[in-house]
Amino acid sequence: MAHGRILLIVGGGVAAYKALELTRLLRKAGLGVMPILTASGARFVTPLSLSALAEEETRTDLFSDSDEARMGHIALSRAADLIVVAPATADLMAKAAHGLADDLASTTLLATDKPVIMAPAMNVRMWLHPATQRNLKTLVGDGVSIVGPDIGAMACGETGPGRMAEPGAIFDAIMAALAPPVSESLKGRHVLVTAGPTAEALDPVRVLTNRSSGKQGYAIAAALARLGAKVTLVSGPTALATPEGVARVDVETALEMGAACRASLPADAAVCVAAVSDWRPDQVFGVKMKKGPGGPPSITLVENPDILADLSASGPGRPRLVVGFAAETDNLEANARAKLARKGCDWILGNDVSAEAVMGGDENEILLVREGGFERWERMSKTDVAARLAGEIAKALGGAAA
Ligand code: CTP
Repeated sequence: MAHGRILLIVGGGVAAYKALELTRLLRKAGLGVMPILTASGARFVTPLSLSALAEEETRTDLFSDSDEARMGHIALSRAADLIVVAPATADLMAKAAHGLADDLASTTLLATDKPVIMAPAMNVRMWLHPATQRNLKTLVGDGVSIVGPDIGAMACGETGPGRMAEPGAIFDAIMAALAPPVSESLKGRHVLVTAGPTAEALDPVRVLTNRSSGKQGYAIAAALARLGAKVTLVSGPTALATPEGVARVDVETALEMGAACRASLPADAAVCVAAVSDWRPDQVFGVKMKKGPGGPPSITLVENPDILADLSASGPGRPRLVVGFAAETDNLEANARAKLARKGCDWILGNDVSAEAVMGGDENEILLVREGGFERWERMSKTDVAARLAGEIAKALGGAAA
């Protein structure tokens, strides 16, 4: 039997009837369900049917004396372990993304610090509208987990993405979110992570660098630390805070990053997420270069050592598991597989950067390539990518060190 209390917000849409089945599944699994029905939700299902299945009173009104007196929006959020919005209408998503709070559902969403799962449901054009997609991005960036929508025929007679995920899929997402973290599964393991860009100096004030934000690498370091690993994060210049429980070594150049990685060995695993500059200027001017009659200077580049390939090279100090990233705009699988062979690492996480705003954004689309197969991960937040990768690493290393 599972434990926990779900605050279930039912928005207005034909899919609201599926919230009844979801409630039944949750109750059957032993979870408490506290329903909130929006005014438009009440046009599709009745408070009575929700209450009957939840075995708990359905709340509908922000300003009801009886509802607020018994349990107001703050208390509701406090009493919940998780908030689920199903169906999440375009309107509810917009309100939550913008922090609007004009009814019980939106006020509760703004007043909570609990994890939130949304199951969007709307007409295909409403879903694909730039405004909804913008709101979706904001919500994902705020840490909201999204289930669905599915693609298929909808009540409005159209076909496409917008149909609410099936109750079973929402139920699975809830169970996964409630599962206690396997917090000790990497205890005693040392994992090295590289992250961020490198900056290659031209002179004391100019550098050659790239747009990597470091977000994905930092999220991975944080997720590994949450599983109990000792994490060394070798980081190029970023604007990010050091994740809790992570030892950070700041570097600027690829050469410094390589040296810091070698110095942090031995490690059980290494994850190279840094966007290392492939080249550096062959000479660094000791003083600032000046404009002059000779015209602009020409810069000769020399190749930087490949840190991932070096860590992957066999030898007594090689980490048991070496993971690299491949940012690709096309032929993701073939390019990722070629990179796996070329670098000699064990796994490559192919990253589709053709999608808008991956570099510096909050989401990633990943293809995990390893010997004998590949796995395509649905588009998810960089935090979710990190959690999933950390779990895979824990599995590969066989759990905590004895
Ligand atoms: N990497 C590294 N050291 C380098 C270059 C890359 O450790 N000097 C690592 C990155 O951290 C990443 C992977 O190698 O894990 C990316 O490989 P790379 O060949 O740089 O990828 P792309 O630039 O995407 O490849 P390409 O040059 O083929 O476009």
